[in-house]
Amino acid sequence: MKSFIEPNELARDSRFIRQDNVAATILSTLPDDVDAVVEALERLDPMIEKGVRGTEAEPLYEEYGPGFALVTLNEPLDPTSPSAGTRLALRMHGIFVGELQALEGAGRSLWDFPDAPWEFKMNMARQCWDETRHVQIYEKLLEHVGGYAGMFPESTFLFECACSDDPALRVAGVNRGLEGLACDVFRDMIRYAEAIGDETMRQAVDYVLADELTHVRFGSDWVKEFTKGDPERYEKAQEFRRKVDKQFSFGGARSEREDAAIPIAWEDRREAGFTEQELDELREITADGPSRDTMREAARQLRERHHARRAASAERASA
Ligand SMILES: [Fe+2]
Ligand SMILES: [Fe+2]
Repeated sequence: MKSFIEPNELARDSRFIRQDNVAATILSTLPDDVDAVVEALERLDPMIEKGVRGTEAEPLYEEYGPGFALVTLNEPLDPTSPSAGTRLALRMHGIFVGELQALEGAGRSLWDFPDAPWEFKMNMARQCWDETRHVQIYEKLLEHVGGYAGMFPESTFLFECACSDDPALRVAGVNRGLEGLACDVFRDMIRYAEAIGDETMRQAVDYVLADELTHVRFGSDWVKEFTKGDPERYEKAQEFRRKVDKQFSFGGARSEREDAAIPIAWEDRREAGFTEQELDELREITADGPSRDTMREAARQLRERHHARRAASAERASA
């Protein structure tokens, strides 16, 4: 079996639809400027449209245009909104494929570094065991909220951003970046489950979150161990984590902002071994990027343009 596989080589059965990762990457680099956001999304429109064709995201695309990701990612989940069901399924599906990729990340860490210490391999094996359970739990939760595997396109963005061929960077990216994001998202899901009184969801996510804290700790321990006596490599690992955190902030959707779609789970992160300095950095990294007002205005313009295009082509067709 070969080492260091490319994200496009991840195996999926025919239920899954692969989405290009460009949109997610671009979203993480957008400035706080309506025109720039609109222009970037318009450019991606053909690719976004192709990616959603035939999936359950198609109605969202038809309603909001290429900015539908801005709407779904940047607004907090609200049980009273009319699209609450679709958006909850979209979030669940994203977590479900995220768990798949976390399993693949941990599995690759076990395989790609044959010279790593035995304890490291045991930790990664333990994580594979956990992630397998998480995949099963989220597949069931997805069905619990009325969804199914493959209903939305899958972006392998998480795997792509978090994997490196240096084991110190790999655990920094997967076990601190990706797993840290999992802590934030799962705490938010627990809050949501409490708000709608869904005890099944609350308890299932709470169990998964407890495992994720352990996975972040694996990352905290092994970054230190792999970079012992090598401050330069340690700095490289920290820099890699900062880069991953920036990409996983989705243009400020995950941030400290009062009304962030995914608030940062400070307490869980402290418990998992993030230092105060790292949390301060995270606060800073996630603070820049477009504001909610910018995103909302960009989404409004994108929607308007999308409907104008649709009306124009309908007119051409009937002429
Ligand atoms: Fe997990
Ligand atoms: Fe995990």
